Amino acid sequence: MLYSIITAIQKSAICIDNLLKKDDFNYLNSKNSTGDIQLDIDVEANRIFKDTLLCLESIKGVCSEEEKEIIYKENPSGVYIVAFDPLDGSSIVDSNLSVGSIFGIYNQELNAKNLIASGYVIYGPRLEMIVAQNDVHHYIYNGNEWKINGNLTLSNKGKINAPGGTQKNWSTKHKILIESLFLEGYRLRYSGGMVPDLHLILRKGGGLFSYPPTSDMPNGKLRALFEVFPFAFIFEKAGGEAIDGQNRLLDLEIDTIHQSLPCFFGSKDEISRVKLAYK
Ligand code: AHG
Ligand code: MN
Ligand code: MN
Repeated sequence: MLYSIITAIQKSAICIDNLLKKDDFNYLNSKNSTGDIQLDIDVEANRIFKDTLLCLESIKGVCSEEEKEIIYKENPSGVYIVAFDPLDGSSIVDSNLSVGSIFGIYNQELNAKNLIASGYVIYGPRLEMIVAQNDVHHYIYNGNEWKINGNLTLSNKGKINAPGGTQKNWSTKHKILIESLFLEGYRLRYSGGMVPDLHLILRKGGGLFSYPPTSDMPNGKLRALFEVFPFAFIFEKAGGEAIDGQNRLLDLEIDTIHQSLPCFFGSKDEISRVKLAYK
């Protein structure tokens, strides 16, 4: 059941990768539900994911960053709802930096507790995919087929600091936390795309990525269903933690499908420092 969904996402990823490598992108005159101006590639990637997934028997519905409502199949036989951000990193795609697609597979209901698997695709020099279930599997596309490249695991402590959000809008406690990590020797790594930024931490085995509550965005920027819960699941399965400052992200309830949440993903040591700072 789950296997057919993963295969469908792998198929979609190859199509999107081909599109990304073809041409420059254009802004459209439309905005998505969060108010972001859409690119033609956002719309096309959304169509590819939606069409591919809705054909599957195991699917009950899909939910996308680029769609207002959940799309349910008529008379579905399946139980899974896949929530996805078809193209993460619209603001850096024009600069030819790595971008991604993020997905979460929910059983019956779109609730963090019902998340049974999640992952992302990274469109970089290589096409890669991460799928977390009990473990975090790393796949590489070799131009012909997807090959498993082992599992990703996090150590207790890393060296990378990836702080998101506009610094002038950070709280004082957040500024102190980020500065204290730099003073200890942590190094700044931040591209502005959560897929490559979090993938780097997972590949290097540790560190901290933060998108805190800010004065302009008290709920953070990153969306719970399409971005935050999928990565929280991945980080926990890799041996790290994911919190909103105090609480485990996967224990939180949401009110609307496009809701955002402040988020901190990292190895255990860094997350314990966030908890202390945000006490
Ligand atoms: P999207 O392109 O789907 O709208 O999301 C972009 C997100 C995420 O990838 C990244 O971590 C964050 O926006 C960057 O935000 P800042 O530029 O405010 O740091
Ligand atoms: Mn996104
Ligand atoms: Mn997006």
